[in-house]
Amino acid sequence: MAQKVLVTGGGGYIGSHCVVELIETGYHPVVVDNFSNAVRGVGDVPESLRRIEEFLDTNIEFHELDLLDKPGLERIFKKHKFCAVMHFAGLKAVGESVEQPLRYYRVNLTGSINLLEVMQAHGVHNVVFSSSATVYGDPQKLPIDENHPVGGCTNPYGKTKYFIEEMIKDHCKAEKDWNAVLLRYFNPIGAHVSGQIGEDPQGIPNNLLPYVAQVAVGRRKHLNVFGNDYNTIDGTGVRDYIHVVDLAKGHIAALRKLEENCGCKVYNLGTGTGYSVLQMVKAMEKASGRQISYQIAPRRSGDVASCYADPQLAEKELGWKAQFGLERMCNMTSCWDSTFHCKACGQSVA
Ligand code: UFG
Repeated sequence: MAQKVLVTGGGGYIGSHCVVELIETGYHPVVVDNFSNAVRGVGDVPESLRRIEEFLDTNIEFHELDLLDKPGLERIFKKHKFCAVMHFAGLKAVGESVEQPLRYYRVNLTGSINLLEVMQAHGVHNVVFSSSATVYGDPQKLPIDENHPVGGCTNPYGKTKYFIEEMIKDHCKAEKDWNAVLLRYFNPIGAHVSGQIGEDPQGIPNNLLPYVAQVAVGRRKHLNVFGNDYNTIDGTGVRDYIHVVDLAKGHIAALRKLEENCGCKVYNLGTGTGYSVLQMVKAMEKASGRQISYQIAPRRSGDVASCYADPQLAEKELGWKAQFGLERMCNMTSCWDSTFHCKACGQSVA
């Protein structure tokens, strides 16, 4: 029988792509999500999961649940014997976290503590945690490897990722039969090859690629480029963009690592290559065949000039390496946004 994996936040952008990979590699995902970042579809399930069920011709067990509801979580652990948990659920908007720090600490930290406690109570001792390169703060050296100092985060969102990492590390120290893989993502972009699932931010996108994609389909007038006076190739910010399907495959590699009783491990998931904002704009123009208007705006507070990974440890220890190059990443982003947003907002992209 297929091994069951609990996926918290499995209706969201990264979680839903991991659900696909789990199913395709023979695991049995059980998803919990509170719809804070997932669109509600027909039948009160996340639209992403409904579509996955359709294109993979399968059924996915879904529970609408907030991790702050500990008794609800208990009920799910009583019902299933999980081999591991993939933990994505949490609030993730940097700017919002500066305005509502207590909400971010309550939701992200308390939710994670509840999860770890319920796992402990039910003898589930394997977890993959969705962390972020944000834990490195302002890079002291590039590329960033896993030994780079952590904790210098400039916003409450980043601090919650750092604190959760520390909680899991301490817990694994105290409980020797626990295994954890903390995955520090760089900048996930793109959509699934099926064209059925992708990133669908609510409201005005905070991140570069969804914003650019919406300019490309005419949903927004122009992009504001936050600063062109950084010490980078063209003065604009440089990031390590990684395709979300590559990222999802990294989670399967992490699950396999847990099966080796690895203790607590930390890996970067990035490509190792950085691109500037203007390079991304050019690549998206090429992918979409449309001009992307932009204007230079002041720097965004909390942004760093450059951030890209040294991904070698994940290759060595997980046997995982990003496969998608810039062109394919942008093609898939552009394709997803032009089909999805046209359907969703009724605007023509012709
Ligand atoms: N940018 C713009 N205009 C925009 C949006 C972004 O110029 O409208 C620029 C930013 O200044 C930055 C680059 O595009 O130089 C990438 O910005 P994103 O907001 O897409 O990504 P960040 O690197 O700022 O943040 C991302 C995630 C965070 C995570 C961080 C980890 O959004 O959750 O990576 O390094 F913490």
